[in-house]
Amino acid sequence: MDYNNIPKSRHRVVSAMRTTGLLHLGNYHGALKNWVEIQDKNQCYFFAADWHALTTEYEHPENIGYYTKEMILDCLSVGVDPAKSTLFVQSHVPEHAELHLLLSFLTPLSWLERVPTYKELRTRLREKHLATYGFLGYPLLQSADILMYKPTLIPVGEDQLSHIELTREVARHFNHLYQAFFPEPEALLTKVSKMPGLDGQKMSKSYHNTIGLREDAKIVEQKIKKMPTDPARVLRRDPGNPDKCPVWNFHQVYSSPDVQAWANEGCRSAGIGCLDCKKPVIEAVLAEQAPIKERAEMYQKDPDLIQDIIKAGAHAARQEAQKTVSEVRKIIGLCEK
Ligand code: TRP
Ligand code: SF4
Repeated sequence: MDYNNIPKSRHRVVSAMRTTGLLHLGNYHGALKNWVEIQDKNQCYFFAADWHALTTEYEHPENIGYYTKEMILDCLSVGVDPAKSTLFVQSHVPEHAELHLLLSFLTPLSWLERVPTYKELRTRLREKHLATYGFLGYPLLQSADILMYKPTLIPVGEDQLSHIELTREVARHFNHLYQAFFPEPEALLTKVSKMPGLDGQKMSKSYHNTIGLREDAKIVEQKIKKMPTDPARVLRRDPGNPDKCPVWNFHQVYSSPDVQAWANEGCRSAGIGCLDCKKPVIEAVLAEQAPIKERAEMYQKDPDLIQDIIKAGAHAARQEAQKTVSEVRKIIGLCEK
């Protein structure tokens, strides 16, 4: 793989996901699909944020390594192309930790304490004992992740906007204290993912309403068959209202206008049963997953290949990261190596 062939004229993009579990269709529609789209026209750094996973999972970290590998496999399976993008594991690029440390000296505590996700998650995940140094530093580690590659665009969901804002403030503060060095990156808001969960809420691991990205076809079928529908449809002859049914949300993501019209009318007139209605949804989800599973199998047959990609990704990222960190050291005035 020759990373030097990547033209430098495009936007630089950095994005990542925490490795706290196996990815699901919500992650695909909300992030991964977008990564694949933007990699052609931009210089992208995508990584599995395993240190960020530790901030909340440090009490039970035993699966983080497995999830990290699976995430890299997921990225490859959906079409993130290591010849176009730099794909790596955060902890394999220790420079992120050094930059985090260097930035920590100039970051006021109050900036971290007022990040909304900090207070929210600490309260919501009270049983996880998150009054830790690392958890408070979560968004600053993210700032280091980002500034390391001097990107212009950060594709993220709305929940991450405060972290991008902090990143910009930290960059500005550094530039002001020492010298203009870090560009202020902008958030590229990922189109709001309409991906619904099996129960009608947003698809999310914490709601236990997910379909795995590469989940077995039989299980996918069972899960969709078991989905709740409009409770008014007790008997086959009882008409229903699609607006009260999570299956309808799936039709809106997956079905053509024709199929949507068929489901809508069939539901309201009791012309079709709920199992009939679910059939095209099952087929569409399986069709979406099929090429992803196929690529995954190809990679799984050759474990060395994934290992090589992970190594090459870390190597390419480190070349860039070492440059940044050595410049930062110099700017701050540390003794040269
Ligand atoms: N905090 C991000 C999330 O939970 C993950 C992340 C870590 C990230 N480092 C990043 C995202 C750098 C974008 C850029 O989704
Ligand atoms: Fe839901 Fe379809 Fe059943 Fe109507 S027919 S309640 S939209 S599954």
